[in-house]
Amino acid sequence: MSVSSLPNEAIADPRTFTDPAALHALLSRIRQTDPLPYIEADDYAPFWLVSRHMDIMEVERNAKQFINAPRQAMLPLSYERQARAAAGGKDTSDIMRNLILMDGAEHKAYREITQAYFTPKGLQAVKDTIDDLAREFISRMDQKEGEIDFAEVAMAFPLRVVMSMLTVPPEDEPMMLRLTQQTLSSQDPEFQTEGGARRAMLEMYDYFQRLIAELRANPNDSLASVISNARINGELLPDRDVFGYFNIAATAGHDTTSYALTSGTLAFLENPDQLAKLRADPTLMPLAVEEVLRWTTPVKHFCRTAVSDCVVAGKQIKAGDHLLLSFPSGSFDEAIYEDPFAFRIDRRPNRHLAFGTGPHVCLGQYLARIELSSFFSELLAKVEHLELAGTPRIVEGSFVGGVKHLPVRYRLR
Ligand code: HEM
Repeated sequence: MSVSSLPNEAIADPRTFTDPAALHALLSRIRQTDPLPYIEADDYAPFWLVSRHMDIMEVERNAKQFINAPRQAMLPLSYERQARAAAGGKDTSDIMRNLILMDGAEHKAYREITQAYFTPKGLQAVKDTIDDLAREFISRMDQKEGEIDFAEVAMAFPLRVVMSMLTVPPEDEPMMLRLTQQTLSSQDPEFQTEGGARRAMLEMYDYFQRLIAELRANPNDSLASVISNARINGELLPDRDVFGYFNIAATAGHDTTSYALTSGTLAFLENPDQLAKLRADPTLMPLAVEEVLRWTTPVKHFCRTAVSDCVVAGKQIKAGDHLLLSFPSGSFDEAIYEDPFAFRIDRRPNRHLAFGTGPHVCLGQYLARIELSSFFSELLAKVEHLELAGTPRIVEGSFVGGVKHLPVRYRLR
């Protein structure tokens, strides 16, 4: 690992994330010199950068002291202003509120609505469908030998999985893909639109309102119906909260998994010995999935806000201060991992922070694991040879990201 010449503030710059080696050199230096620096970057609200695995765990587990409201992510202030201006001075809080922005008892009550659905036991009901979908999407590589942007395969599969749970028909998926990218990856020039993220959000709101009304009239056993018909204290959820649930499942549920698949595939291409090892012993798949998750850590950060003065890693934090939890930093912490910059599919233990931890730990973690395992198993079964056929392109964004274009040459069995 080379010594980084990037200043600490580069952690706020979306472009830093297009170069994983530079990003990790920067985070490594921060962990080893000053692991909780105060970052005052141009155009950003100041924040403490929590870089060590142990400190991220401490902050996340102490959810009474470090709350999720009012700031979930650290985006440029000018971007937030532009988004508001494009939306006539409004943010999205009037139409959308989700689990990430809730705390305490309210968060617990909302999370419980779908908790059973997302447990390993609950997900057994959809495992076969996921395997079938993995087969269907891998078969998009339909020539004996050919070239393809592998992102087209890897992005479409998790989208279909989550959309089938939300009962969105396949013909509406291209629109959903566009809307989720415009809301979640809206820092990347490729996904920016005139009306900003709010315009995309409103379009999605209208779409789901129609669906919610249908499911209230005719309930079924889908995830979408569970959410639409959920009650807290006997009352159906308010519109913005039902939409918040749909929105977070639609966005958090597919971009993240897609980037784990594309960036994970790139990791296999760059480490052919690891791919060969997995081919030789497919029982390593569960461990390989964990290593892919660690290596790709598609969610780059979430924020917390301190409710009162306190000390973290020897630093005096004031009430109202923001803390940025750097998940890629935690997942590569030298204090936790032996040789963290080696991609090793049999790494054990592997306590990565790709899904966060504490009360907000990723609700879809077991679903994501099933998807990764199904997809890579099918890839190994069908594809005999895979190699890069061009330069991979990585999302410009400091929130959620990974490889967005992956040109590959393949040969089927
Ligand atoms: C590789 C794929 C995924 C990654 C890397 C990922 C990562 C994360 C992370 C880091 C968090 C925040 C955890 C924290 O604050 O400690 C989170 C929360 C969440 N994720 Fe995922 N996620 C993935 C897939 C999914 C899927 C498939 C779904 C559902 C369909 C999902 C739904 C959620 C929800 C609802 C939350 C909010 C939980 C809460 O605030 O209580 N995620 N995820």
